[in-house]
Amino acid sequence: MMGRKVLEPTRIGDKILKKGGTVLVPSRQLHSNANVWGTNHPQFSETRFAKNPSLARHSSYRPFGGGVSLCPGRKLAREQVFTLVAILIHRFDVRLSHGKKQVFPQLNVSTPALGVTGPAKDMDVYVELNQAEKST
Ligand code: HEM
Repeated sequence: MMGRKVLEPTRIGDKILKKGGTVLVPSRQLHSNANVWGTNHPQFSETRFAKNPSLARHSSYRPFGGGVSLCPGRKLAREQVFTLVAILIHRFDVRLSHGKKQVFPQLNVSTPALGVTGPAKDMDVYVELNQAEKST
């Protein structure tokens, strides 16, 4: 969620924002717009962006904000995730742990969230990591 100070009286639609006020801008609504993301938007889809790469440039996709305060760390954040995944799958055989029935983590829809929604309680995913065999 972003916050902005109102510098001068500003009309948005039928509302007037008073000078000196603070506006909180939740991004959640954009990211759950069924017209853009489809009615299955609450479900994780590992192919959503692969199937439709233009979504990553859509005006309703704002994980890093936009305009003058667009997150300058967005590329570093992406590289960090890629690096972690690359190291994990290079060094280890990764499997879901056996012996415990595991469900795909569900969103916590009971706690109001204006930005990122976390997982529901007890949604830890248990995995087994075994050192990968070294390739010659
Ligand atoms: C997944 C990780 C990240 C997410 C989702 C994220 C998200 C955001 C968002 C939404 C904003 C805009 C806030 C606004 O307009 O009020 C922002 C701004 C900012 N982010 Fe990030 N960020 C991430 C990682 C990082 C990293 C790794 C760095 C630094 C190494 C960073 C540094 C900043 C800074 C300095 C700003 C303020 C930019 C400005 O106001 O000019 N962020 N971030």
